[in-house]
Amino acid sequence: MKLGTIIVSQILALCMVCVAQLHPLEPAQYQRLPSLRESARIQNAWKDERVGRIPALLKKYNMDAWLMSQREHAEDTIWWSIKNATDFGAHRRTVTLFHTNTSSLAGKPNPLLWVDNTGAVWPELLNTLKTYHPKRIVLNVDRHIAFAGGLSVGEMAVLNIQLGDRWMGCTVNEPMVAVEFVASRVDGQLEYYRKMQEIVWAMLEEGFSHQVIEPGKTTTEDLEWWFRERMQTQNVTTWNQPRVSVIVESSFPGWQGTQDVIEEGDLLHIDFGITAMGLNTDTQHMAYVLRTNGTAPETDAPKSLKAGLRKANRMQDILLANMRAGLTGNQVLRMSLDQMKTEGIEGQIFSHPIGDWGHDAGAVIGFTNLPEYVPVLGELPILPNTYYSIELYAYHFVPERNETLRFRVEENAYWVAATGSWQFVRGRQERFHLVDQRKRQRTTFTVQGVS
Ligand SMILES: *[C@@H]1O[C@H](CO)[C@@H](O)[C@H](O)[C@H]1NC(C)=O
Ligand SMILES: *[C@@H]1O[C@H](CO)[C@@H](O)[C@H](O)[C@H]1NC(C)=O
Ligand SMILES: *[C@@H]1O[C@H](CO)[C@@H](O)[C@H](O)[C@H]1NC(C)=O
Ligand SMILES: *[C@@H]1O[C@H](CO)[C@@H](O)[C@H](O)[C@H]1NC(C)=O
Ligand SMILES: *[C@@H]1O[C@H](CO)[C@@H](O)[C@H](O)[C@H]1NC(C)=O
Repeated sequence: MKLGTIIVSQILALCMVCVAQLHPLEPAQYQRLPSLRESARIQNAWKDERVGRIPALLKKYNMDAWLMSQREHAEDTIWWSIKNATDFGAHRRTVTLFHTNTSSLAGKPNPLLWVDNTGAVWPELLNTLKTYHPKRIVLNVDRHIAFAGGLSVGEMAVLNIQLGDRWMGCTVNEPMVAVEFVASRVDGQLEYYRKMQEIVWAMLEEGFSHQVIEPGKTTTEDLEWWFRERMQTQNVTTWNQPRVSVIVESSFPGWQGTQDVIEEGDLLHIDFGITAMGLNTDTQHMAYVLRTNGTAPETDAPKSLKAGLRKANRMQDILLANMRAGLTGNQVLRMSLDQMKTEGIEGQIFSHPIGDWGHDAGAVIGFTNLPEYVPVLGELPILPNTYYSIELYAYHFVPERNETLRFRVEENAYWVAATGSWQFVRGRQERFHLVDQRKRQRTTFTVQGVS
């Protein structure tokens, strides 16, 4: 019975891959993002739309207010998602009170905001609370979830004194307010996120090619720094150092890049992300360095490696199909691992939300060191209207090397409201990037021919 299931599902998986490969993605083009001034205008509109949802979000979780107090250099984590594009750190002591727009505060700004270094904020805040009379005030004091735990210890001590038992008695920890606010996207962001993903793919296609890699000479570290420099010329930054490795049997996700000279026959891997317009990406692709020298020069990656990538692609399909909104990260993980077992695929899943942060708020689906169950973050529900980074690896035995390698891929997906399912923002890697030294020699020849 098992064998039948395995064969049928593997044929299905292969067919899906065949169909996808009939329509390969066009080569990526470097995209131009708006000027800083125009970006600020666009980002402020997104911020206004998101902040405008907070009253409804508070009502959803049966809360009346959300209070933050922070000082420059000790900002609440939420600050970075509510600030204007032309704000950087919070000034002085910045206090924000989000409310539900009830009649007692009708027509008042939301949030109410004080920037203070004299103490004048406290009597004004107390007066506001007396007028508004909130019964449940969210404070960001969660012990486990960073997005909901950004109130500093010093500000907590000040609030205890200034608000006293009367109002501190109304404060509650409801981490989902912070999590859902940070994780939820607005429609306008997708157009620019697509541009960012195309920049990422354009960098991958250029970086993993003879234009940048000279086998026997270029090192993995050279390539990491090439990616950093290329970000500069594309006017994007990053949230972590690119990690480039030559894949061997022991290679494990999350490790630093290796220190290798890149050689023909190497399987290369990169894990990197870019940052622009308040959004972040996180991508992993693999490349193969063709053997050009010898009795059987190659024109494509060996079949055994392609089969490994196909397994990882199949895992992506399984995971996306199981990621129904409302299920917990751990439920989705369990279902996906069970389905992999049925299909005879071994591997590991460690996927996470992405957006305002490279590792964004919300349910994670596995962790590299917690492959089957993640406390706290794995128990959160998958939220619709968010972006996810689909990060995983499949094990596959490569007979030519007598080794079982991890085929590690990562792509970013967005929620499609119309179908209630996920789609990759640009697509996913289904073929290895190929580094072909012969093209490099031809380039050199042409240059010499010209001179
Ligand atoms: C953003 O700018 C607007 C307009 O100047 C201002 O009313 C608002 O308080 C600012 N928001 C924050 C969080 O400082
Ligand atoms: C609440 O009030 C603010 C400021 O007046 C407004 O921008 C926002 O759209 C209102 N939100 C709702 C849900 O009524
Ligand atoms: C990057 O920004 C500079 C300065 O605004 C601009 O001249 C350049 O064309 C931009 N490059 C890209 C690729 O957008
Ligand atoms: C091709 O192989 C020969 C013999 O192993 C070696 O001497 C030569 O350096 C190789 N050439 C390249 C371009 O790798
Ligand atoms: C393959 O590797 C295994 C152990 O990893 C070893 O026992 C076996 O001899 C190897 N086979 C060949 C053909 O080298």
